[in-house]
Amino acid sequence: MTNSNFMAFPDGFLWGSSTSGPQSEGIIEGDGKGDSNWDFWYRTSPELFHHQIGPERTSTFYENYQNDLKLLKETGHKVFRTSIQWSRLIPTGRGEINFKAVEFYRNVFKEVNVLGIKLIVNLYHFDLPYCLQEIGGWENKEIVFAYEAYAKECFRLFGDLVDTWITFNEPIVPVEAGYLGKFHYPAKVDARAAVQVAYNTQLASSLAVKACHQNNASHRISIVLNLTPAYPRSQSHEDIKAARIAELFQTKSFLDPSVLGEYPKELVEILSEYGLTPDYTEEELVIIKENTVDFLGVNYYQPLRVQAPQKNKEFDMVTPDIFFEHYDMPGKKMNPHRGWEIYEKGLYDIGINLRDHYNNIEWLVTENGMGVEGEEKFRENGYIIDDYRIEFIKGHLIELHRAIAEGTNCKGYLLWTFIDCWSWLNAYKNRYGLIELNLTTEERIIKKSGYWFKELSEQNGFLNTKES
Ligand code: BG6
Repeated sequence: MTNSNFMAFPDGFLWGSSTSGPQSEGIIEGDGKGDSNWDFWYRTSPELFHHQIGPERTSTFYENYQNDLKLLKETGHKVFRTSIQWSRLIPTGRGEINFKAVEFYRNVFKEVNVLGIKLIVNLYHFDLPYCLQEIGGWENKEIVFAYEAYAKECFRLFGDLVDTWITFNEPIVPVEAGYLGKFHYPAKVDARAAVQVAYNTQLASSLAVKACHQNNASHRISIVLNLTPAYPRSQSHEDIKAARIAELFQTKSFLDPSVLGEYPKELVEILSEYGLTPDYTEEELVIIKENTVDFLGVNYYQPLRVQAPQKNKEFDMVTPDIFFEHYDMPGKKMNPHRGWEIYEKGLYDIGINLRDHYNNIEWLVTENGMGVEGEEKFRENGYIIDDYRIEFIKGHLIELHRAIAEGTNCKGYLLWTFIDCWSWLNAYKNRYGLIELNLTTEERIIKKSGYWFKELSEQNGFLNTKES
């Protein structure tokens, strides 16, 4: 049957998008920015980056922010999330401030406020000042205190313009991609280092929560986590156990300490059994306990499907493969333009999990979106007709709407992303924006989804014509 329902969202629901400093600003001569780990990696290994496009050529927001921000209104934004680049504000990671960066960020934040759009500012989106990488990066506890000092500077310099903060975006990603895989710098495989990096990042996040509240008790701060329940291949004991452990590593390792103030007991036991317990102190655990987040940011792109590891497989070092393997489920619905599974119900499951196991904490979808390689093939009469993206968003919103109706405390939906942006090793391969960026002319052209998103935001919902 056809179910023509208007999916109305709660009053005041926030519609908008997320981007980040390193992925949108670009670098220009004389801007005073220091190197981040990405700038350094690109300079030394450009061949790793798609079409050899590096972070200095990102979407030129640094120069064009005034015009770009006008497009927020044209695409119906009620909220906008971006990040400060630590290496722009404090070029050597510690000490001297770059006043050109202060001026730039203050101008951007003022302008967003003038437009009447809610601003959320993230302190860290995978971008460590390279000087700090040279002394061991997040493996070294000194970086935790350097980050705390940086966070305090941000609260002091921008606290009159920003009242909603994020400590880290997807902190598990640099752990996995930089210390268990080779997609982020320093691109090494070392489980002991991975665990220490994860722990140090959590401690830094908790210290930033504390500093934010000390600076202004009415300001709110969160962490953005890429959450997804782990779905087991089957209901066998082995697959269910594999899924439970995958969830411990990939979601609960930050979710539990950030929201509940404590690490899950089973995770602590596994780490101890494999000799991977990080260096920590009791005082640090008290800091984590006492400084939980005010709300949660959730990024969701694709589900985590797992199976028990093959029996009798030999491992010469401890890696997550000992505990679980990825499961390639036959018949799954795919985004063929990115190679990622589409599973809308994941968003519902996240909402219900937060309702039932995390004190029904207030949360926002801080990223969800559809990456498309070769998107120019969908251009008609000068602009991109991205019906696939509109369908993708609608599908997820139907599930989110259902979770909200059942009591989850979700207050907004932020798409990834505003204007097509640079994305790490993938550079501009996958386009996600409501607005197309022409890399040669730097022209910005609103896609069909951008106009649709404006309507969605103005009507605070959409007509669901999906078969049910
Ligand atoms: C998110 C990250 O997980 O994925 C973004 O927070 C990133 O920084 C996005 O750009 C898309 O990634 P990709 O690899 O599809 O371009």
